[in-house]
Amino acid sequence: MDPTRDNPLIRIKAFFDGLGIFTFFALLLALIFGFGAAFGIFRKGQEPEDAAGKIRYEIKTEVDEAQAAVISPEQIEAVIPTAAKALIASKPAAVEKPEQIVPGSETARKLEEAPGPDLSNIDAPAEDEDAPIDPAQMEIGKAQFLVCGACHGQNGEGTAAAPPLAGSEWVTGPVSNLILIQLRGLKGPITVKGQQYEFPAGMTPMAYQTDEQIAGVLTYIRNSFGNKGSAVKPEQVASLRGEVGKPQVTAEELTQP
Ligand code: HEC
Repeated sequence: MDPTRDNPLIRIKAFFDGLGIFTFFALLLALIFGFGAAFGIFRKGQEPEDAAGKIRYEIKTEVDEAQAAVISPEQIEAVIPTAAKALIASKPAAVEKPEQIVPGSETARKLEEAPGPDLSNIDAPAEDEDAPIDPAQMEIGKAQFLVCGACHGQNGEGTAAAPPLAGSEWVTGPVSNLILIQLRGLKGPITVKGQQYEFPAGMTPMAYQTDEQIAGVLTYIRNSFGNKGSAVKPEQVASLRGEVGKPQVTAEELTQP
């Protein structure tokens, strides 16, 4: 047996030698990782998603700050009751526009079966047939005509999208035709000034205008671009409101001018 091994001092020294070597390597590792971390050697490469996410986050912060600078959350909250009131006051209806009626539905069927309106009253010559046109009505009509002019041309000359209104026998003809065209729209072939037109989609109904506005615009086209015709009355438009929602009218269904 080796006598030195039994010496407690030698055992203690051996223990501390071991501890020293261990500490040395531990420090070495710590140094390597410490430097590595400091210079980014071990950092994982940044994924493109991370980079994009970072940019998005920066933009969002910027937008949030800009919005907050212009309108505060208190201001937004203050507006909500007014907006809600306006929405309630507008009485949103389930089916209001003809476009909302589902073809083949109960509402559509009822409308189709409804008897046609009596047009004789509307088209009977009025006593005030030759009365001068009210300039106020022409003003209303002129404003409403802007939308018609988009297709028919601002001087009623006709475009690639719609036939002319200037000199059209339909425009100066029976008033009921014009009201029906506006309330139901128009499709199928139509002859204007001796030329036949047929536009694939026809003309969309424009029943959203008020009775005064429709009477105004129809009076306007009857008395502009060289046309001459009697004024259209809001009551005449009102009497045909029941026609709204029926399929687009055809020239055949109308009274020949
Ligand atoms: C989206 C385009 C468009 C708009 C807007 C439009 N129309 Fe038309 N209109 C047409 C087309 C297309 C026809 C011919 C339909 C057909 O092929 O049967 C037509 C036909 C007519 C006709 C009978 C033919 C003629 O030239 O005399 C009248 C009257 C008429 N439109 C009046 C109006 C009035 C009034 C307005 C505005 C309230 C209006 N239109 C807005 C496209 C339009």
